[in-house]
Amino acid sequence: MQRKKDKPGERIALVTGANRGIGFAVARGLLDNDFQVILLCRNKRSGEAASQKLGKKNSVLIVADIRDERSIIAAQRYITKKFGKLDILINNAGEIDCGEATIEQTPTSEFDRILSINLRGPFLMCKHFLPLLKKSNSGRIVNVSSEMGIIGPGIRGNKPAYRISKAALNALTSVLAAQLKGTKILVNAVCPGWCKTRMGGNGAHRSPKKGAETIIYLATLPKGGPSGKMFRDKKELPYYRCNRICWLIKKFIP
Ligand SMILES: NC(=O)c1ccc[n+]([C@@H]2O[C@H](COP(=O)([O-])OP(=O)(O)OC[C@H]3O[C@@H](n4cnc5c(N)ncnc54)[C@H](OP(=O)(O)O)[C@@H]3O)[C@@H](O)[C@H]2O)c1
Repeated sequence: MQRKKDKPGERIALVTGANRGIGFAVARGLLDNDFQVILLCRNKRSGEAASQKLGKKNSVLIVADIRDERSIIAAQRYITKKFGKLDILINNAGEIDCGEATIEQTPTSEFDRILSINLRGPFLMCKHFLPLLKKSNSGRIVNVSSEMGIIGPGIRGNKPAYRISKAALNALTSVLAAQLKGTKILVNAVCPGWCKTRMGGNGAHRSPKKGAETIIYLATLPKGGPSGKMFRDKKELPYYRCNRICWLIKKFIP
């Protein structure tokens, strides 16, 4: 049966890693857009502090670690009971390799840690929340990726686990979009740009709010919008970096 059209305040969004950085800015932006926002944070104390800072009655805190499938399932059960649907899933939580290391030097445990947060986490979130997104009139999934996930000629090789995890997150976005073709759910990836957060550091030129802009744009795409793509500053970004010949072909052959 078709759900009736949602009124403002009845649209539910979930943001992972919402206690700080870009995730916090996304949560704030969605609250300002009349969404009810579920802040999924792994640390109760910092989640509560973020919730208080947001100071809006329309936010709900769920403590869960995206590496832990059981905690994701518990979150899904809670949201099913409380809201019965989910309109927006923002897979924002992420981590980057500590220091600089080649693949040879990267401890396997470090590789596993990054992949479990940046790839396995979003996979589990999509897997367990898709049944609830399918109950929405306009389900949207936004995977927060990075330009560092773009592969092809001329890329740098630093932070290998992070780069590989984001390239794989782009692949997840593409495969999921293909599976969801013909449904009301749109799934896209986004590069927020280099933002001043704990991950981005103080040298970054963008605010988390600026980084959140395209995430919110993709989360609120109208029906029939793009799916399976990556965006930065509301413009499509290729998953693969072209060499010069490929670039020339693309430029002159539409
Ligand atoms: N900042 C940039 O320049 C930049 C550029 C491109 C892409 N990105 C992407 O943007 C996203 C957000 O980054 P940010 O800069 O805002 O980073 P950040 O300030 O370091 O925040 C990362 C967030 O992820 C959460 N998190 C990490 N592991 C988690 C887990 N296992 N379960 C639940 N939450 C977890 C952290 O929670 P705790 O507070 O508990 O640690 C924190 O809330 C990431 O996916 C990142 O790759 C950032």
